[in-house]
Amino acid sequence: MRKVTAIAPANIAFIKYWGRKDEKLRLPANNSLAMNLSNVFTITTVEFLENLKQDQIKMAGEKLDDKSKKRIVDHLERIRNLANIKVHARVVTKNNFPKGTGIASSASGFAALTLAATTAADLKLSQKQLSILARQGSGSACRSIPDGFTEWRAGNSSEASYAYSLYPPNWWDITDIIAIIGETPKKVSSSEGHVLSESSLFYKPRIEGMRAKIRIIKEALKQRNFKKFGEIIEEEAVNMHAVMMTSKPALFYWLPKTMEIILAVQDWRDIDLPVYFTIDAGPNVHLICQGKDENRVSQKLKSLGIKKIIINKPTNGARIISKHLYDGTRAFVG
Ligand code: DP6
Repeated sequence: MRKVTAIAPANIAFIKYWGRKDEKLRLPANNSLAMNLSNVFTITTVEFLENLKQDQIKMAGEKLDDKSKKRIVDHLERIRNLANIKVHARVVTKNNFPKGTGIASSASGFAALTLAATTAADLKLSQKQLSILARQGSGSACRSIPDGFTEWRAGNSSEASYAYSLYPPNWWDITDIIAIIGETPKKVSSSEGHVLSESSLFYKPRIEGMRAKIRIIKEALKQRNFKKFGEIIEEEAVNMHAVMMTSKPALFYWLPKTMEIILAVQDWRDIDLPVYFTIDAGPNVHLICQGKDENRVSQKLKSLGIKKIIINKPTNGARIISKHLYDGTRAFVG
């Protein structure tokens, strides 16, 4: 047994996952495409210890509610089953993004937990197996395992549903500037939202159009065609939010400031600042621009009165940052 620490990035989906064909296995209705983010990550340490009566889970600086704890324990249980062990674990986890930013990344959390816990349990899993396992904790976590720009293949079974790297981080110098707007946790979590998606009249046409969108974005990524890329990611974000807003009950994640930024982005493009937006299940806006325009976009956001921004470049997926081998009492760095 070892004590293992892993780090994993959050990721921003350009073509999104909203709706599942298998609830329990978290099989998504469609393929999705994302980029790992350099400045929003989770660091998690796991050790399995003989003397523990139950799993101990601590999140630095935050109090975990029972539901979140159970989700982590369920994930540890999957890993114990795979490793054929019964020992409980001590888990300490920390997000680098400050509490109250409205960013709650289950993706970075479950990717870091999957890598740290499987390594601590001496399982030697391939990247594909890690992605499959992370997906069962949180769907989007499977995209935080491989490097850079990733595609999650929806698949029709658990073994066929995983993410892989399309391109490494240095493939394209683009930047994701997150404008932090929401300070409170969202009322309806992504997990609950996925279940509601099918109640929208727009859900079916959305899913039918997904293959074409994936094809277009892959072409744009291959050609590094920023305009084509930007147009498709904006269309996609609005399309997903249209489904959310027309679900029963309706989900409105946007705040007035969200809309203000959307309109400003359109104006900025008119004055020759190529920048596009995408938005996940929350009010924060991700502004995607080319590296050369990063400062201009940040300045523009500040001029709108946005006080908190997080600047991200494409980055690698989950990795181990330390391993200790145990002889019972003392630890050896391994
Ligand atoms: C809007 O991966 O958070 O960010 O599988 O229930 O944990 P669970 O859902 P989650 O959903 C992500 C939704 C999204 C779009 C995306 O990242 O693709």
